[in-house]
Amino acid sequence: MKILVTGGSGFIGSNLVRLLVEEKGESVINLDKLTYAGNAESLADLDGNPNYTFEQVDLCDAAALSAVFEKHQPDAVMHLAAESHVDRSIDGPGEFIQTNIVGTFNLLQASLQYWRSLEDGVRVTSSSEEPQGDRSGVAQCSVSELETRTDNSNDIKKSNFRFLHVSTDEVYGSLAPDAPGFSETHAYDPHSPYSASKAASDHLARAWADTYGLPVLVTNCSNNYGPYQFPEKLIPVVILKCLRGEPIPVYGKGENIRDWLYVTDHAEALHTVLTKGRVGETYNIGGNNERQNVELVRTLCSLMDELHPSDAKFESPVFSSSNGGNQSPQLELPRSGSDSNSVSYESLITFVTDRPGHDMRYAIDPTKIRDELGWEPKEDFASGFRKTVKWYLDNREWTDRILSGDYKLDRLGQSEDSSSSC
Ligand SMILES: NC(=O)c1ccc[n+]([C@@H]2O[C@H](COP(=O)([O-])OP(=O)(O)OC[C@H]3O[C@@H](n4cnc5c(N)ncnc54)[C@H](O)[C@@H]3O)[C@@H](O)[C@H]2O)c1
Repeated sequence: MKILVTGGSGFIGSNLVRLLVEEKGESVINLDKLTYAGNAESLADLDGNPNYTFEQVDLCDAAALSAVFEKHQPDAVMHLAAESHVDRSIDGPGEFIQTNIVGTFNLLQASLQYWRSLEDGVRVTSSSEEPQGDRSGVAQCSVSELETRTDNSNDIKKSNFRFLHVSTDEVYGSLAPDAPGFSETHAYDPHSPYSASKAASDHLARAWADTYGLPVLVTNCSNNYGPYQFPEKLIPVVILKCLRGEPIPVYGKGENIRDWLYVTDHAEALHTVLTKGRVGETYNIGGNNERQNVELVRTLCSLMDELHPSDAKFESPVFSSSNGGNQSPQLELPRSGSDSNSVSYESLITFVTDRPGHDMRYAIDPTKIRDELGWEPKEDFASGFRKTVKWYLDNREWTDRILSGDYKLDRLGQSEDSSSSC
């Protein structure tokens, strides 16, 4: 199968593309704008692989999207490209509206035009080939060349075509402490610009299925963790702060609960839904792995204590001015384990002002995908987090190169000014 993956250079996308090409025998076209969150290096191991192609395209460029469909004639679309960081959505919601809503609209339009062309036995021509293409802001592909087919290959391709829209559990809003996990019928109640923009994109995807018959599937997944996650998200932040001996920021009291899923388990689930899921259905994907943030951070600290003992020597000053600047790590930090020279990274935990509108709890009820499609996560909390910490320790050059750019592990999303990126 030839699959067009959007956002394949991001965290989940790169893990998904690798799984599809290396383990599932699929052929992948990765369409990605390469924003700050996209990293071509994350798929450097696929360079030269005949089953992998990269197209640097912005979802907001409708003409370029259509050209990709025309050029590659995919059998399926897996749509992951998005602005994905809640804190950035607080600082600059405009990009989230453009990419997550307008970009998804453009992709749905390009997919629909392409899918219809398969039924009609006509070829889709990109607007760059069209002297009078539609410039109205909708997908700018047009049908120009009638080809009478002598076989029914396009009809088969049409009936097998799938559009998998990848979304998040954050669209459901916050759960009460003892409430059951989100099922597929849970009402939407998003609270951040990120989750609201993803909710809007989910509604668009379902509307294109109901109104135009596009064969859409939707997945809503819980928090992912694992290799290649941009170092602004909680888990890489904790590991990198440990390595630098800097305060580990935990929002509020650290009581917020998330349901953690190892990223390759998510990728497996997406391939399962694409190949076995019923068209028009939604599948919720979760890890049965609920943890309070502070508990998660402590687990990571103790893995770091074991896998990379501090020896009281950090890569940058332990207590900079941002942490009071008046403590001596050798005197203040408790020792970890039996090694009396080591201090526990837990001592770096620092509670900071909470994120505005911070949802207290997310959890997924994965009954449907398990019972209907037979998918279950392979990694549990212990195995998944151990693998993740080891990966970040073994791949320092990957994070070092990112941190040599604009992002410096600074805190984002305190809602001081959200006007700048609109
Ligand atoms: N990370 C999670 O825990 C999580 C959980 C559930 C669902 N999701 C969803 O999964 C998807 C992938 O998440 P992620 O964590 O890998 O995100 P990410 O931020 O790591 O990657 C997003 C990718 O999309 C690309 N992109 C952004 N804007 C684009 C545009 N306008 N045109 C083309 N490409 C563009 C970026 O370059 C990047 O490669 C998102 O849709 C997200 O909402 C993520």
